[in-house]
Amino acid sequence: MALFDPPGSLQGERLEDGFGRRFSYLRLSLTDRCNFRCTYCLPNGFVKQQGLPSELSSEEIYRAVAAFARLGLWKLRLTGGEPTVRHDFTEITRKLSEIEGIRRIAMTTNGYRLVQRASEWREAGVDAVNVSIDTLDPKAFASLTGHDRLADVVAGVDAALEAGFDTVKVNSVLLRDLERSGWDDILRFVETRNLSWRFIEFMRTNDNTAFHEQQATPGEIVRDRLLAAGWEPQSREIGAGPAVDYAHPAYRGRIGLIAPYSPGFCESCNRLRLSSRGRLHLCLFGTEGLDLRELLQRDDQQEELIARIVAAMPGKSRGHRLNEGDSGATPHLASIGG
Ligand code: 5AD
Ligand code: SF4
Repeated sequence: MALFDPPGSLQGERLEDGFGRRFSYLRLSLTDRCNFRCTYCLPNGFVKQQGLPSELSSEEIYRAVAAFARLGLWKLRLTGGEPTVRHDFTEITRKLSEIEGIRRIAMTTNGYRLVQRASEWREAGVDAVNVSIDTLDPKAFASLTGHDRLADVVAGVDAALEAGFDTVKVNSVLLRDLERSGWDDILRFVETRNLSWRFIEFMRTNDNTAFHEQQATPGEIVRDRLLAAGWEPQSREIGAGPAVDYAHPAYRGRIGLIAPYSPGFCESCNRLRLSSRGRLHLCLFGTEGLDLRELLQRDDQQEELIARIVAAMPGKSRGHRLNEGDSGATPHLASIGG
């Protein structure tokens, strides 16, 4: 049974912006807390800011998602911060999976609890899991994340593969020194595992400008290496995300590239973001976002909430301006869910 039965159909209303892009996908940040200290994200760890509103409660989250689902949105990604530091993570997932119209739930995690929890989350309704691993060199991993836990995280990836998720992916921020990232180890890692290792071009945010200056490198570096070694780009499924995946007959897994700095990256944008404090962000590198929170307080505000979301859509800009060195209002990706 759906938790929220739509009182009427919303034909005609849809999530579409001024450039004809439709939105089927919501990235939902459950918290901006994180227990890791990735140098490019939260180098000093999570620091509580005074005066900020509290995180959305589970009820506020369901109301928000139910409204988006009535507008035709069907895919969710639970992210953070580290979404699983919330004690109610499993319960939230289970309830979100019961909302009518929600067909797919993915999550992004740093993997610190995956070994213990993979089956529980699968059973609660998570379809797909992305685990962040930027390097397979244990020392480099410890220095980048502040935790000497690479072995646990890798065991977590294997537990996720065992637990039967539809897809398991690794997110790996592309840093200049690929040997330090353990390029050969990455190849060995994907040789036997049915997953996709995704390099993401390192994006500049307002808090990481110095590290970005030192470490950012264009995705072509990976692409050229893969092509030279006989990897072949796969055609992208309709509605798939912005990654290009490469496959090789000798490898079970794939290696992908997400290149936000490349031209045209934003053209097929299909996603919206809701922060853990209830602000709707139309772009990862946009403005401070639109506050939906007052409309998440009661079940009888759904029509107003839907109207506010629909009214915001024309405000979505054509694309980010990262290439001009403009990271919008984004201090780090933990604030808005990556
Ligand atoms: N550039 C690219 N990827 C980033 N991530 C966090 N910050 C950045 C950045 N500045 C990644 C995380 C996680 C995903 C949500 O985004 O490592 O895998
Ligand atoms: Fe935490 Fe992810 Fe940011 Fe690392 S990148 S500090 S794991 S939120």
